[in-house]
Amino acid sequence: MPKVTYITPSGESVVVEDAIGNLMEIALEYDIEGIEGACSGCCSCATCHIKVHTDWLEKTGKATESEMDLIDLESGTDERSRLSCQVEMTDALDGLVVQVAPF
Ligand code: FES
Repeated sequence: MPKVTYITPSGESVVVEDAIGNLMEIALEYDIEGIEGACSGCCSCATCHIKVHTDWLEKTGKATESEMDLIDLESGTDERSRLSCQVEMTDALDGLVVQVAPF
């Protein structure tokens, strides 16, 4: 199972060893601080804002146009910003590290 590490707004690192689903769903299941997921993953709220660790940008890919429309409304965003509901965990992402907003 792929593993993902969330770095919370408090600076805590939370490792999920058997990450299945998208990064918002996983965060809610494991009660990760800072991820609300208000729209349940419909890409319409941005309460699931994360930043992907630089080492993983190529594998996760960039935000889609609809993600960017929401991300642009947030503060503290940059090229690493994604909506966690739009990033599906796969074996190729085993070891992924993301930071949870606010940053
Ligand atoms: S949960 Fe609403 S945009 Fe991700």
